[in-house]
Amino acid sequence: MPEINQQRVVEILNQILESELAGVVRYTHYSFLVFGFGRIPIVAWLREQADESLLHAQQAGEWITTLGAYPSLEIGPLLDSHTFDIGSILRESLESEKLALEHYRTLLREVEGRSIALEEYARQMIHVEELHAGEVDKMLRRPGAVSTLPDPGPAKDLL
Ligand SMILES: [Fe+2]
Repeated sequence: MPEINQQRVVEILNQILESELAGVVRYTHYSFLVFGFGRIPIVAWLREQADESLLHAQQAGEWITTLGAYPSLEIGPLLDSHTFDIGSILRESLESEKLALEHYRTLLREVEGRSIALEEYARQMIHVEELHAGEVDKMLRRPGAVSTLPDPGPAKDLL
């Protein structure tokens, strides 16, 4: 089995760590901004996502130190569209989740055939993140509709 490119793998793992940490901040931030009848279950769901992102960040960080490298203390990009409507919050989350998913796919390509453990980790994360993206996509559909709603464009400024 050929060796992994340690430096490249750590670089990708750090990107994963940073984007998952951004997820913790993003979901926590959004959880403060949900108002109306649906508030309680939606806030609970957003906080669950924050916890899951933290777990994913911890897993990436553990891999980095397993490989004998230093984990990044940076955090991935955060958008603040200042929109309070759930549709915009979910669409913004979906975009960021797709970015994280891309990092896991890059990791898989990098370690495929070189490290079974890292390959398993990347595949498992792709599985989890794809299910998550699918779930968010379904939340963006109108009840009774099977296909995804088109993005209505930037929401009106509510501030
Ligand atoms: Fe994640």
